Amino acid sequence: MTDILTGSGHPALRPERIGRLTLANRLVVAPMTRVSAAPDGTPTPEMTDYYTAYAQGGFGLLITEGTYTDTVYSQGYLNQPGIVSAEHVAAWREITEQVHAAGSRIFMQLMHGGALSQGNRYRDDTAGPSAVPPRGEKLPEYGGSGRWPTPRAMSLADIETAVDGFVRSAARAREAGFDGVEVHGANGYLVDQFLTDYTNLRDDSYGGPVAGRVRLAAEVVAAIRAELGGEFCVGIRLSQTKVNDFVHRWPGGTHDAKVIFAALAEAGASYLHIASEGRDWIETARLDGGVTITGLARQVTGLPVIANGGMHDLTQAAQVLSDGHADLVSVGRGALANPDLPRRLGQGLPPAEFDHMMLQPMATLGNARQWRQAARI
Ligand SMILES: Cc1cc2nc3c(=O)[nH]c(=O)nc-3n(C[C@H](O)[C@H](O)[C@H](O)COP(=O)(O)O)c2cc1C
Repeated sequence: MTDILTGSGHPALRPERIGRLTLANRLVVAPMTRVSAAPDGTPTPEMTDYYTAYAQGGFGLLITEGTYTDTVYSQGYLNQPGIVSAEHVAAWREITEQVHAAGSRIFMQLMHGGALSQGNRYRDDTAGPSAVPPRGEKLPEYGGSGRWPTPRAMSLADIETAVDGFVRSAARAREAGFDGVEVHGANGYLVDQFLTDYTNLRDDSYGGPVAGRVRLAAEVVAAIRAELGGEFCVGIRLSQTKVNDFVHRWPGGTHDAKVIFAALAEAGASYLHIASEGRDWIETARLDGGVTITGLARQVTGLPVIANGGMHDLTQAAQVLSDGHADLVSVGRGALANPDLPRRLGQGLPPAEFDHMMLQPMATLGNARQWRQAARI
């Protein structure tokens, strides 16, 4: 008999729905920045092959790397893909067509870097909720070094421009054939900077208590929903930890989580994706009162919830799904090492180990190719 955790009986291999979409299984490729687009942000043929491999490997849903949304302050890194021009739309369409032909669904992650921008072809300065220097240092794997600059505090007009960028980009993503979009509200980027008490010191209605700090996130989701109607999938990714702060926790714990989740459900989100940057799911999932953050998100919203963080441990993934902590699991590093993880799981084959050298000195597709050639994989 096949072991339920490694064979076709694994709960991650059951179909699932998000909104009106049916997914072949509950295994999702987590969004992963690869800084491999052309300098003008146009996706390359190598990126088409990269995404198609996950679809051919059997993932039910792919979420793209964070993609920038305007020609002002959103770009986070040089060679990050964008969704702001007709050329971007045409190149992304190649990707969505190949992914669909291989039987998967694909959402675009829409990202505004805010204060955590370390390469922007449109601007030299950065903008965020308040003029607070970000913690930590720029990310070498995406081509940065040294301290982050202090951002300019955004005016109400700047906020409107940022929201408009998300909305127009969502419309362009639909035009490019995407099945949905995911607003990047996690990991320390703009939307998360507004959510976070120590980066958002505003005294207007976008700041203050958590109900004010979640306003930007809710406005972005509601504005996309209003523009694109009820059937298009509009999700949002949230996290307590950040690329530049692995220890942060929402200060009000369960209370804050309930306020945030309820506001996003009310805004019309189709699903919530809870990331665990730099930590395993269980390390960031436990809230006060014995609930998990993903389980609470399900309870409060009734929406599908994607759990993340070390889900290439397929025993943990099975428990998370079977015990009602989440509806789907997203896999980052485990998918880099195993673009065919769902097929392997179905056939009872063990997954390959992730080797961090694959992303050195930068997380580009070219470096991963060289690593594979050296390792003869
Ligand atoms: C190379 C790399 C790039 C990443 N880029 C993004 C990104 O663009 N957007 C995002 O929300 N998370 C990003 N992440 C975080 C992953 O989506 C995921 O949350 C993290 O790797 C933990 O999941 P894992 O344990 O399955 O790897 C990135 C992670 C890696 C390894």
